[in-house]
Amino acid sequence: MLSRIKGKVALVTGGASGIGAATVKKFRAHGAEVIIADVQDSRGEALAAETGAHYTHCDVSQESQVAAAVDLAVSKFGSLGIMFNNAGIISGPKPADSIARLDMSDLDAVLAVNVRGVAHGVKHAARVMVPRNSGSIITTASIAHIISGSALHPYTISKHAVVGITKSAASELAFHGVRVNCISPAAVVTEIATKFWENLVPVAEAKLDMQAAFSGKPGFDLRRALMEPEEIAEAALFLASDESRFVSGHDLVVDGSLAGTAAFNIFKDIQQGQLRLVTKN
Ligand SMILES: NC(=O)c1ccc[n+]([C@@H]2O[C@H](COP(=O)([O-])OP(=O)(O)OC[C@H]3O[C@@H](n4cnc5c(N)ncnc54)[C@H](O)[C@@H]3O)[C@@H](O)[C@H]2O)c1
Repeated sequence: MLSRIKGKVALVTGGASGIGAATVKKFRAHGAEVIIADVQDSRGEALAAETGAHYTHCDVSQESQVAAAVDLAVSKFGSLGIMFNNAGIISGPKPADSIARLDMSDLDAVLAVNVRGVAHGVKHAARVMVPRNSGSIITTASIAHIISGSALHPYTISKHAVVGITKSAASELAFHGVRVNCISPAAVVTEIATKFWENLVPVAEAKLDMQAAFSGKPGFDLRRALMEPEEIAEAALFLASDESRFVSGHDLVVDGSLAGTAAFNIFKDIQQGQLRLVTKN
């Protein structure tokens, strides 16, 4: 059944790559009109041409650009039914390996995209959805808000805030027919994740080989918990569709059981000093 969101109009931020791109394809396959909003113009335009979506340049940290993308959806297709606030970055320009060395400009850079960017999207989606008494707003949080220490501090802080925005907005918008939910993925094979794992370097005595795990060669077996972006796109499709019409304020964790199983081993080794977060700077 490939028509679960037929006739709906969706805006996907961060839609040029990774989870966003997989979701653009999924939404198009299920009959939605889709606007890709991203800062990677050539990739976004290529994906739009491939899928029949529409691309618009949009830096989510700039409220005016998010407002314009929402208005574009309404002017082009008449309404906005699905807003997927998915754009995110893993670190700013000066990532630090310790809270004691946290660079405030780095924190601000991450919050500008991951928190303000999501707030912009939720705000402007609500602006056009509330009058129609209908809509589904989705955000992308992360397993980082469940397993502290699984990412650099600014990222973890930002993803806690994404859950907060989601639940806070859901509590109000439920009275206006608009649902707000988030998805918390664990390790998904995308560019942002690759950048993270490159920064997760074993210390000399480490028993783990994350590169080997990533490529599926012998080493620590993280493969059970590594997902393709399509897994998250499926979750987004569910939350976008009327099948989830009674679901709001929910954090849909899609982690391949990482939180319950593999994470225990990874973070035990981090705690024991066999694995540590380091930065390239
Ligand atoms: N990959 C994972 O393991 C993982 C796990 C948990 C959460 N997430 C979250 O999933 C979301 C998507 O990440 P991904 O894994 O697909 O990574 P990705 O790097 O493949 O995609 C992120 C997209 O966001 C875009 N983007 C970045 N800054 C932007 C801005 N200011 N304005 C507009 N677009 C911007 C990028 O150009 C890119 O297309 C992010 O919010 C990320 O934090 C990813």
